[in-house]
Amino acid sequence: MPTNRIANTDLASRIMDADAAASLISHGMTIGMSGFTGSGYPKAVPLALAKRIEAAHAAGDPFRCRVWTGASTGPELDGALAKADGIEFRLPYNSDPIAREKINRGEMEYFDMHLSQVAPMAWQGFLGPLDIAVIEVSGIRTDGSLIPSSSVGNNKTWLDRADGVILEVNRWQNPALEGMHDIYYGTALPPHRVPIPLVKADDRIGEAYFRCDPDKIIAIVETEAPDRNLPFAAPDTAAHAIAGHLIEFFRHEVAKGRLPASLLPLQSGVGNIANAVLTGLVSGPFENMTSYTEVIQDGMLDLLDSGKLRMASATAFSLSPEAAMRLNADMGRYRDTMILRAQEISNHPELIRRLGCLAMNGLIEADIYGNVNSTHIMGSRIQNGIGGSGDFARNAYVSIFMTPSTAKGGKISAIVPQASHVDHISQDVQVLVTEQGLADLRGLSPKQRAEVIIEKCAHPDYRPALADYYRRARAGSYGQQSPSLPGEALSWHQRFIETGSMMSG
Ligand code: COA
Repeated sequence: MPTNRIANTDLASRIMDADAAASLISHGMTIGMSGFTGSGYPKAVPLALAKRIEAAHAAGDPFRCRVWTGASTGPELDGALAKADGIEFRLPYNSDPIAREKINRGEMEYFDMHLSQVAPMAWQGFLGPLDIAVIEVSGIRTDGSLIPSSSVGNNKTWLDRADGVILEVNRWQNPALEGMHDIYYGTALPPHRVPIPLVKADDRIGEAYFRCDPDKIIAIVETEAPDRNLPFAAPDTAAHAIAGHLIEFFRHEVAKGRLPASLLPLQSGVGNIANAVLTGLVSGPFENMTSYTEVIQDGMLDLLDSGKLRMASATAFSLSPEAAMRLNADMGRYRDTMILRAQEISNHPELIRRLGCLAMNGLIEADIYGNVNSTHIMGSRIQNGIGGSGDFARNAYVSIFMTPSTAKGGKISAIVPQASHVDHISQDVQVLVTEQGLADLRGLSPKQRAEVIIEKCAHPDYRPALADYYRRARAGSYGQQSPSLPGEALSWHQRFIETGSMMSG
């Protein structure tokens, strides 16, 4: 029977349970799933698929799929499928701990890509064919168009590209989500690309719904299940100090006339520190701010509630359970201050550059020249992925990276002689902030950068060793543009791997 969430009566015959829908997926298929940072991902079909996969493996039959998403999802998707050993290949961003272990053990292929490039690459055909899209929506309208859920991600592209579509209609999602989305259908491949007509963070340039060919819909599954995300860590003294340095920096830039009083559209990355900085802006002096970002996290909600943030544009929510309930209970009010777009638009280099976003992203380590590693622990173990940080860092008005100066209770320095892996080259890193201080690297040469980073950002426990390394590199390096002692530079990481601490001696 059609429900009030499924207004198109012709589609009623395709309603079935999750097991029946999962039986339409077979070994070797490529599945495009909805979901972005724990919101709007399908919650019933992936679980049913994991059950099928486990049964197949128990019977000695192979069953693994290629899984594409928007970004990270929830335990019912990545967690369940990885646990069942059902993912052969995964793109573009993962933060699920079970999948992370599989990837780091070499048991799952993972293509970690810039999030703005996923949809264009799928259209270019480089990623191969897409068999089935499994997309969570919050409703189906009379005309068959789809009301998006709590994330948009790559759903438009998966719906267009897939041979068959399975929809999960989630009654838990607030019906007041309807009207929040802006789905732009004007992108094309070269040589037919035209400028994207968005000039302000709050511009709407598309439609509120997804188009979907009804003939492609092979199953509709009704669910009533919450988005699941981990809570953020409460901001500690390091997070407060980082937020303080950043507010001081913005205040200085406004005073110099390099930023307007309401700043420029904020982009805030994933993770605890990025979230804490947003919360810190609540007590900052800036009013009437806007945000053009990838995810709306708890801190962004706090900023909206404070009235200091006028509106937020993103592709998804990335909220703690408490904040997700807060949003869901008051969706009608929030709807007028938020826009959710496809990730190819929320993260589009053209738009980030035009709007002049202030990019604020977390990192794992930075070297003394300002090259940033956002993804690989000790150079080889993936933590999450580059996500949208590259889209924003390369194209921002000011590209800021922030981190506590040490990790693992002080055993690791986040500032190292040479990054063990580089996601963001020094040219894409203009400001580096730790709880120790802020290094404004704009206009500085590599040697000037090294001195500022060691002085302002390194933890006092590691500063002398970094200064000593740099002094010796100045004396003994092959070249003097970015002095280094290659044999020694990565020994800090080796020391940690061997002794559990970067401290020497
Ligand atoms: N060496 C080793 N481990 C480190 C480390 C370092 N230099 N720095 C951090 N870690 C570990 C932490 O100990 C923690 O491990 P645990 O989960 O075992 O406790 C883990 O990495 C996460 O660190 P945390 O301090 O909790 O950081 P965070 O929540 O602020 O996230 C990133 C930091 C870099 C992991 C996160 O920002 C990220 O994934 N960034 C890449 C994607 C991105 O920037 N997206 C935004 C685009 S819009």
